[in-house]
Amino acid sequence: MEPTVFIQWKPSYSVGHSLIDRQHRIVIEVINELYLARRRGHQPGRLDALLKRLDQYTKAHLSFEERLLLENGYPDLPAHLELHRVMKARMAGLARLGEAMGEEIAEELFDFLKAWWLHHILEEDMKYSEYLMKE
Ligand SMILES: [Fe+2]
Ligand SMILES: [Fe+2]
Repeated sequence: MEPTVFIQWKPSYSVGHSLIDRQHRIVIEVINELYLARRRGHQPGRLDALLKRLDQYTKAHLSFEERLLLENGYPDLPAHLELHRVMKARMAGLARLGEAMGEEIAEELFDFLKAWWLHHILEEDMKYSEYLMKE
């Protein structure tokens, strides 16, 4: 049977900050929508629109998180900023490909999105979670 959701949010993904958690859940929702839209096909403009939304939301979330970490004096901010910078650039490039992306690139895109976000939330964002809780 086909999975109904591509990435399933779990309580263990919580970084202990309600706004950040909500944003992470929205990112995952948009990726899931994009995944479903891709599978269904035949919806001109829909993939483009979702890719742009994911690109914009990714930038908005990462920038919000950066400001929060800066305001809280997070010591490992430079390394975290670099991870975000690379992701923003990569996501912008994927969004530019738009509808025209072939099957192979679409598969890579979904593998990449799942791997990046799960790793980033569970490993990288979790590092500041402990720090923010101590404050
Ligand atoms: Fe994050
Ligand atoms: Fe992050």
